[in-house]
Amino acid sequence: MLDPDFDCPHGCDANGFLFDEVTRSAYPCSCREERLRRRMHADMEDNVGRYAPSRFQNLSFDALPLSGIAENHGAAAGTVRRFTSGIEANVRAGRGLWLLGNKGTGKTTLAYYVAQQARVAGLSVLTRNTTDLLNELRESYKPDAQPTTREIINAVTHVDLLHLEDVSVPRPNDWVLEQLYTIVNRRYEYNKAIVFTSDTPFGEKINPESLSDHVGGRTFSRLVQMVGEPLLLTGTDYRMQVGA
Ligand SMILES: Nc1ncnc2c1ncn2[C@@H]1O[C@H](COP(=O)(O)OP(=O)(O)O)[C@@H](O)[C@H]1O
Ligand SMILES: [Mg+2]
Ligand SMILES: [Zn+2]
Repeated sequence: MLDPDFDCPHGCDANGFLFDEVTRSAYPCSCREERLRRRMHADMEDNVGRYAPSRFQNLSFDALPLSGIAENHGAAAGTVRRFTSGIEANVRAGRGLWLLGNKGTGKTTLAYYVAQQARVAGLSVLTRNTTDLLNELRESYKPDAQPTTREIINAVTHVDLLHLEDVSVPRPNDWVLEQLYTIVNRRYEYNKAIVFTSDTPFGEKINPESLSDHVGGRTFSRLVQMVGEPLLLTGTDYRMQVGA
């Protein structure tokens, strides 16, 4: 059965079919394709697990922490607001965002806001810390592992929006570079949107190109084609300022 809460104006049945009294036969309603798509995406999210920590739920620019982040990083926050005001079109066109800068400046919070707004718009979203995702993939090679490698790769390839945290953290050995390339290249080929964050250590000059050292040159160039210029968030760690 498809989503029983779906409100179709044509009054189709639970599987998205209408009945033609004249020919006495069932035929698919115009909503069926979209409902099948939503079911497939919900299954993908369920198989792999959505991951939505409570700290990053119910975010709004009218309240902290987003209001404070917008005060400190007006340009980045403005771009995120514009991006999310057209979230469905942006994500469906494969457009993404890269939030780059120092730790504790609000990158993760902004990325979760994008993920949240995508879900509100009915898009499927997978959020993963990049290191966790690679560990899950490694675990999935074991016999009888759940989710399976295939389920993970399928989800990270086809989900409407892939949200990856801390892309530059995993130690870039050959296996890691290969997995990152596989994931990013698949999304590139399918024209699928990606939103990701990466930290620059304090004291180091913020240099977008240095991501290439962490993910490899080919993956880096794909990412740049998909997200364009990074949104920069520089400054001191908010957690240090307030002792949070
Ligand atoms: N300007 C701010 N006002 C209030 N809280 C903030 C502000 N900037 C960051 N925070 C808080 O600081 C913490 C770190 O933010 P986060 O988005 O994880 O940063 P980053 O991903 O850049 O390290 C979060 O708990 C966030 O809510
Ligand atoms: Mg972060
Ligand atoms: Zn219908």
